[in-house]
Amino acid sequence: MPGTEGKPGRNCPRCPRLAAFRKEWRASEPTWFNAPVPSFGPLDARLLIVGLAPGLQGANRTGRPFTGDHAGLLLYETLKRYGFSRGTFDARPDDGLELIDCRITNAVRCVPPENKPTPAEINTCRDFLMPTISEMPKLRAVVALGKIAHDSVVTAFGTKKSAAPFKHGGKNALGNLTLFSSYHCSRYNTNTGVLTPEMFRAVFANVRRYLDA
Ligand code: URA
Repeated sequence: MPGTEGKPGRNCPRCPRLAAFRKEWRASEPTWFNAPVPSFGPLDARLLIVGLAPGLQGANRTGRPFTGDHAGLLLYETLKRYGFSRGTFDARPDDGLELIDCRITNAVRCVPPENKPTPAEINTCRDFLMPTISEMPKLRAVVALGKIAHDSVVTAFGTKKSAAPFKHGGKNALGNLTLFSSYHCSRYNTNTGVLTPEMFRAVFANVRRYLDA
């Protein structure tokens, strides 16, 4: 099924490796979502968070970004702390959690083997990231989780990566919005201390100050 209006269809064929991986998981786990994961949150939000790609047993299983795997725990807890959500996150898409002034998407919409999309897949899926950005009329801030998401957003704005290098806690102006960047809140990064909850909160505290100014 072709995508409509800048959204990938359930059977998006554009990345053959990802389509083949999806087919395998549809066969072995037919009750899972196993499709490009849509963005979550209101279109009129001022903040867009860009993750890397669905986790196999997280968003790929549940159909909601960062829902059902370890990476979502710190993200949703932090969003709540800074007033970007209402309700209780319970790692299920029917937990009733609502995002406030915030939307979450991924640089790559389909689950990649070993959480590693290829450069070609990242480039291809940017065709869905760009309309996700442009369909948000009030957008003022983007938080990129990890260097891959950061670089893909920078490229989506037609900016050279060297002009807006990735740095945890860094800020770059892109057109009339600000890109805030963080290490990805993956299990690996949080377990190894590359990213502590305090470091992650500091990024969202900055975003909150910027939006409230
Ligand atoms: N889940 C997502 O949706 N995105 C990530 O980047 C990681 C986990």
